Amino acid sequence: MQSTAASEEIQGFKGKYPKQLFLLFFTEMWERFSFYGMRALLLAYMVSQLHYDDPKAYAILGSYAALVYTMPMFGGFMADRFIGYQRAVIFGGILMTLGHFILALPNAWSFFYGMAFIICGNGFFKPNISSLVGTLYTVNDPRRDSGFSIFYMGINVGAALGGFLCAYVGTEINWHYGFGLAGIFMVLGLVIFLIGKKSLGNRGLPPNAGILKKPVFAFFKPEHLIYGGTLLVVPLVVALFNHYKAMDYIMFSLGILAFIYIIAVGIKLEKEAKLKLFAALIMIIFSIIFWAVYEQSEGSMNLLAERNSKMVLFGIDLPELSVNNFLPPGFVIILTLIIAPLWPWLNKRGKEPSTPLKFALSFLFISAGFFVFYLGCISNESTGIIPLWPFVFGYLFFVLGELCLSPIGLSMVTKLSPTKMVSLMMGIWFFATAIGEFFAGKIGSLMSVPKNILEKNDPILSLPYYADIILKIGITSAVIGGLLLLTVPFLRKWMGDVK
Ligand code: PHE
Repeated sequence: MQSTAASEEIQGFKGKYPKQLFLLFFTEMWERFSFYGMRALLLAYMVSQLHYDDPKAYAILGSYAALVYTMPMFGGFMADRFIGYQRAVIFGGILMTLGHFILALPNAWSFFYGMAFIICGNGFFKPNISSLVGTLYTVNDPRRDSGFSIFYMGINVGAALGGFLCAYVGTEINWHYGFGLAGIFMVLGLVIFLIGKKSLGNRGLPPNAGILKKPVFAFFKPEHLIYGGTLLVVPLVVALFNHYKAMDYIMFSLGILAFIYIIAVGIKLEKEAKLKLFAALIMIIFSIIFWAVYEQSEGSMNLLAERNSKMVLFGIDLPELSVNNFLPPGFVIILTLIIAPLWPWLNKRGKEPSTPLKFALSFLFISAGFFVFYLGCISNESTGIIPLWPFVFGYLFFVLGELCLSPIGLSMVTKLSPTKMVSLMMGIWFFATAIGEFFAGKIGSLMSVPKNILEKNDPILSLPYYADIILKIGITSAVIGGLLLLTVPFLRKWMGDVK
């Protein structure tokens, strides 16, 4: 029989959380500080410093974000098969550190190279740190989802701090110092992991150490080939940035391949495991749309905040870019405190919504968020300048949506996938995000403000470019949420014993 993820390792620990969770929490927290700190600067840097027009900046952002979440498929696969989660996290962390420091250099070449190193590093780091969290729990441990929620909180503490501080340092002091700050905190995350990894014991060690040690080519061991091969991918990624239009074909082909691969693996499984895998696949497909919409917060909304908003709180002028990047993860932290305990509380009373129902709710929430932003736009048409409140209340809804999908999805993938492919499926979960990010870039470019309008420097003229699309996104998300509601009974059945 095909066993499901993590059920092979029976983990016993007393209390609410396994102690290793905190090691993974802090490692991921500082890694996300650096990742989101850099990301907060990216689009604004391209339009204001590199003088890209909006469509090009959105295309590069979409390509970067798409590649950042495509690589976890490979990093996940390499870890599952060869190097194990622990080494993958360390290798990925080193590459990401290099990437951030390269971005800190004020050279023309460093921009694409810095991003390329981060893309490759993230591919090894991100899926495997999440898989390590999965190894701490048995598959139906009721504490498992709360564990992932806590981990998710670490992600967002890092993202909130990094988004705020790097955007502030970048825009107020020097763009490259902003990128450099991100690098410093990535080093911190890596050091924490190196010091604490002993406590993980044999979780996430290479699955077959013998294979890793046997030279395959001259004196090169498979491990060296994996690291060396990854370094060779860096200039390839740079070449892709130089020909970013090719990304359309790449994402399309990879998407189809991943889909066919899951179907091909799935049909060979026995019935129960097959239905579980297909349920996961359908939810993964919906997650693509969710991220395409949600990620406007780090794309078009960054430019909306810079160009068309003035945020004042108690008479104090707030830095718009920082606030835009602080609010979503900030809300995740606050709302996790309410929602993470809410699920087990509802569970005890037999009232916890199923995973597919949570997914449907996420679309309804994000739709509400876009309607709030739309209200913010139309009620300030006369000035073209939006105040703080639409960002606050809009993101409140965005995050309610995120919390019904993102931590739940991570946990769902580790539960519904066959054991042997859990990291790969985690990679595919991130790859779905990648496709979502790619579409996010496309949706963002629909909000491009033409150069001749920007030159007039009049917010009244630029605001309608955002408002119109924001309304359309709100309506579309509501319709998709409705569709998902209809699929809930089928998906619940397919998930079998997994709740
Ligand atoms: N913000 C979360 C994280 O960084 C979830 C997320 C993952 C969001 C990937 C978008 C893309 O882990």
